Amino acid sequence: MIPRFLQRIRHLVLDDTTSYDQGLLDEAAFWRKSLANGGRNWDAAAFRMRMDPKFEFQPHLRELADKSPAARSGGPVQVLDVGAGPLSAVGHHWPGREVRLTAVDPLADTFDQILAELDLHPPTRTRKASGEDLLGVFAQDTFDIVVCSNALDHSRDPLLCVRQMFAVTRPGGWIFLWHYRNEAKEEGYAGLHQWNLDEERGDLVLWNREHRNSTRAALGPAAVVDTRPDPAVARAIITRIHKRDTSLPGNPTP
Ligand SMILES: C[S@@+](CC[C@H](N)C(=O)[O-])C[C@H]1O[C@@H](n2cnc3c(N)ncnc32)[C@H](O)[C@@H]1O
Repeated sequence: MIPRFLQRIRHLVLDDTTSYDQGLLDEAAFWRKSLANGGRNWDAAAFRMRMDPKFEFQPHLRELADKSPAARSGGPVQVLDVGAGPLSAVGHHWPGREVRLTAVDPLADTFDQILAELDLHPPTRTRKASGEDLLGVFAQDTFDIVVCSNALDHSRDPLLCVRQMFAVTRPGGWIFLWHYRNEAKEEGYAGLHQWNLDEERGDLVLWNREHRNSTRAALGPAAVVDTRPDPAVARAIITRIHKRDTSLPGNPTP
């Protein structure tokens, strides 16, 4: 993650775009620098929060958990964070409830090296997996909530990632996505930023210079897709995708 103004200058002055593979190296370098010195080169408050063994499971995710299969069964809430980075931004502490958080990222091996070098021990260790290959690691219908924050638009194939997230979500469960609109366009299609995410009549549209994909069309009637602006953050959009549980009364068969 190169700072945005440097990306723009490089793009404008050199008219070059860094490759996706170089983007992965840049991302690893970003985290190596960010995790040093207690996160002071990045965001010390976020660093402290993500390292806290009592990092609170966020209210917007509790709301979804209360409408998920875990609420009906009374079992633990199974949560997956896709593209988590080395320190997941998803909390896990919820007094009276059990949250089982799994975090994955394709750069997990590099994160392990960085964490070892810095002697850091985050409460949730990120495992290696890319969003495009979740079914290679997890069984279908495993998670009550799948979260992906600021990472889908860093992937090679965001539509495949969404399909895989949907597959590993339990019927009756949820996908929660948080992203900035149209980052690839903003960043000049450099490095990991090869895809834009945008909202269109509540749909999540994944597009770049060659393709334009509707999430609603891709997932079909088994999914309820709801995208809207994040009122708290300029240019950010939130998408909630509900995977219908057709075994429940009142849920029409897709
Ligand atoms: C901007 S960071 C966001 C990290 C974290 N979600 C957060 O909000 O702090 C983007 C992350 O996406 C990851 N990423 C890149 N390609 C990915 C893919 N194909 N599937 C899942 N994550 C990917 C990167 O390795 C990086 O850790």
